[in-house]
Amino acid sequence: MSAADSLATGGGELRAQALAGRRIVVTGAASGIGLAIAERFVAEGAAVALLDIDTEGVNQAARRLPGQSGTVVAGTVDVAEDVDGAVDTPMIQRSLDAEDDPDAARRTYESRFALGRFAKTDEIADAVFFLTGGGSAFITGSALAADGGRAFH
Ligand SMILES: NC(=O)c1ccc[n+]([C@@H]2O[C@H](COP(=O)([O-])OP(=O)(O)OC[C@H]3O[C@@H](n4cnc5c(N)ncnc54)[C@H](O)[C@@H]3O)[C@@H](O)[C@H]2O)c1
Repeated sequence: MSAADSLATGGGELRAQALAGRRIVVTGAASGIGLAIAERFVAEGAAVALLDIDTEGVNQAARRLPGQSGTVVAGTVDVAEDVDGAVDTPMIQRSLDAEDDPDAARRTYESRFALGRFAKTDEIADAVFFLTGGGSAFITGSALAADGGRAFH
């Protein structure tokens, strides 16, 4: 049976799970972008290892995910940072809250994007999911800018 043929129930409906049989490691998985990616991969049927420097946070995140027994595991890791853009996460909110007027600061930063807003974490998970799938089979060694048009705005 192919991965696409593997079926799972979600909200009472049968649907294919694109990543059944795949094993995925997500770092920074206790919060924000990493957590959204882990949630997406679990929903698509992958076995996911959630890794984070925050041991308690990543264990809590793993417990909340609906993966079958043994398909979601948590661990502690310390990795380097390497992400660009502006995604609406607890990290961004903490930065805004440090400003005198967080709402005004949000409007100012969001105006720098052609789409006029920060990315939602699910939108970054969508881009990562695309890069793991058959639809991107001939894409390699190039960067996909999920930046709301920041590069040309
Ligand atoms: N949100 C954005 O727009 C934005 C912009 C530029 C860079 N980034 C980077 O993207 C990554 C995720 O950001 P986010 O917005 O989801 O933040 P977040 O604060 O919501 O989540 C970051 C997660 O990474 C974990 N973490 C921090 N340092 C780590 C380390 N050394 N090793 C392993 N895990 C670590 C934290 O415990 C937390 O769970 C971060 O590296 C951040 O610097 C985010």
